Amino acid sequence: MKPVAAAIVSLAAGIALGLCAVAAAAVTVASPNGDIVVTISDEAGIPSYSVSFRDEQVIKSSRLGMRFKNAPGLDRGLAIASSAAASKDETWEQPWGERRFVRDHHNELFVEFAAADNAPRRLGVRFRAFNDGVGFRYEVPRAKNFKTDEVTNEMTEFVVDESARVWWIPARYWNRYEYLYRESSASDELTSHTPMTLKTPSGAHLSIHEASLVDYSAMALRQIRPGRFKAELAPWSDGALVKFDAPLVSPWRTIQISPDAKGLLNSSLILNLNEPNKIGDVSWFEPGKYVGVWWEMHIRDSSWGMKPLHGATNENVRRYIDFAAKYGFNGVLVEGWNLGWDDDWFGNGKVFDFTKSYPDFDLSALAAYAREKGVRLIGHHETGGAATHYERQMDDAFKLYEQNGVHVVKTGYVADGGGIQRIDEKGIERFEWHDGQFMARHHLEVVKAAARHKIAINPHEPIKDTGLRRTYPNWVAREGARGQEYNAWGPPPNPPEHEPTIAFTRMLAGPMDFTPGIFDLEPNKRAPVREDMTRSDPKIRVETTLAKQLALYVVLYSPIQMAADLPENYERRRDAFQFIVDVPTDWEESVGLAGEIGDYVVMARKRRGGDDWYVGAVSDEKSRDVAVDLAFLDEGKTYVAEIYRDGAKADWKTNPYDLVIEKKKARRGEALRVRLAAGGGAAIRLTPATEQAP
Ligand code: NOJ
Ligand code: CA
Repeated sequence: MKPVAAAIVSLAAGIALGLCAVAAAAVTVASPNGDIVVTISDEAGIPSYSVSFRDEQVIKSSRLGMRFKNAPGLDRGLAIASSAAASKDETWEQPWGERRFVRDHHNELFVEFAAADNAPRRLGVRFRAFNDGVGFRYEVPRAKNFKTDEVTNEMTEFVVDESARVWWIPARYWNRYEYLYRESSASDELTSHTPMTLKTPSGAHLSIHEASLVDYSAMALRQIRPGRFKAELAPWSDGALVKFDAPLVSPWRTIQISPDAKGLLNSSLILNLNEPNKIGDVSWFEPGKYVGVWWEMHIRDSSWGMKPLHGATNENVRRYIDFAAKYGFNGVLVEGWNLGWDDDWFGNGKVFDFTKSYPDFDLSALAAYAREKGVRLIGHHETGGAATHYERQMDDAFKLYEQNGVHVVKTGYVADGGGIQRIDEKGIERFEWHDGQFMARHHLEVVKAAARHKIAINPHEPIKDTGLRRTYPNWVAREGARGQEYNAWGPPPNPPEHEPTIAFTRMLAGPMDFTPGIFDLEPNKRAPVREDMTRSDPKIRVETTLAKQLALYVVLYSPIQMAADLPENYERRRDAFQFIVDVPTDWEESVGLAGEIGDYVVMARKRRGGDDWYVGAVSDEKSRDVAVDLAFLDEGKTYVAEIYRDGAKADWKTNPYDLVIEKKKARRGEALRVRLAAGGGAAIRLTPATEQAP
């Protein structure tokens, strides 16, 4: 183990540049295993940092700093005035999650830059070096003439090799985070949301993101020169980037670093850079699986509104409750239950009333019916992006759900990017970004209000995840990428490489409500249920095999997983459905076993409080063989592997239902070989043999 490096190293003495007429200095901090070293410098008076990983400079000299509206910038003419080192090695427990225990092992260096002209203001930057990456954040203290102000430019850069490969989705466009990932070179012009994942020419993998996005605007990354990415904060409608009352503390800027793609899957850096639980006991939230009145609307078997064909009727909801109870699922989501859906609501959520049901939906009777069967309704608040309108109603709305035993509410913000409706102090309507400071505040207000009513939140069209589930563990999942719904209406549907891409990008941020488990892979080929219920183009379909739909329950983590298809489609494939019945959604441990970005991924997870392990593997449009190394199993135990895999002739396009279900004995030290079809996958359940006859 290398020491906690915090030595002040004097560089070329006597350099006199600009305002900074002193020798440049540099300080360093290394990860506990010494593989990662961050060097912080004030060369030429410019605060900057670089990061090396096993002797490769993965982040070259990159600027730090801020500019403000009413005060001089803290981005030049600065010198390192002091630095203070600290370190930590602690393990903490998640109330629910992809792993129960998380180790926070890091070395810290807090660096203060001061103006060479002795102005009183200071730029503090706190760095933390972990074995899986680096985080740093700005801490600017309150000072004379530095109280209430606005950030006009965050200077943070991430400079990488210009030939690095980049996986990214565009920021500042209409469809929020719901774009297909693109693969580019770091020398191409692009502005990306984070997490943005990169592979350097030597094969090192980096993912740039942020942690603990609280009262600040989300950071996108704009390529400003080949290889040079700069923080681009989502502006307010009046142009301000961040409004603050000093001290100013930014979210953590994070760089996850791994020698290979799979290492990114095993990083807990984002969670470790969030504050511990602030809301106390959340045992009222039970991870689990749910069904709901949902897919049938997306494929146009029914509608959200009363017209043309209401889905959320008492009779239909009872059918889903019965189905959930029969198979041991704990939730039934109901969308389209409240007034507003028959109006023009898209981007105009002022039409919604969150406490008034449609006449054919009896909330209290259905909630009671569900409870008797050990099931809970999952609530739904589609805001159409009218955030202030929703804030005004949410307390009453949560109270109503609480009275009815509802513990999870899905929210939604369907409005184009930049189209969130905010009513300001003067009563004037303003339009904000989904990921601006206003929405960072809004989502936390919703989550805190929900917690007071013992309600967990699952936003769609959300702000991106930055690990706040650690601090607010009732923020259980979210969308924030293209989910299954695109396979109902596209265009285009998600291509086969989508899931092995989001595993290494979007999913690094946190749980996603992807809604897996579609069994009728070509729903738009069916005849419409009525003449006025035309389906989407039949070419829009699920571009996976059946086995891949099962594998997604293991590959894409969420503590609440939907079995998204219609009950009758599951009854028809009872054999395949058994995997969804068995698979848990709360884990003792998770291990990324293998994968390449956009090609394939193999994940293993162990049930929390149990002995069974689950493996999910998914491929892109190519078929491939994977060898699942069973090193995670207990030594000396024999397991029975129930394998749900693509048949020999399976192919997402021509033969997606070719599924083989077989049992095999398995032990640690062995490798299970499975073939994944084109657009295919495999789902495996491993139980100790004593618990099950082979
Ligand atoms: C978009 C969400 O992603 C989807 O799940 C929901 O059904 C619709 N909005 C309506 O709220
Ligand atoms: Ca959506």
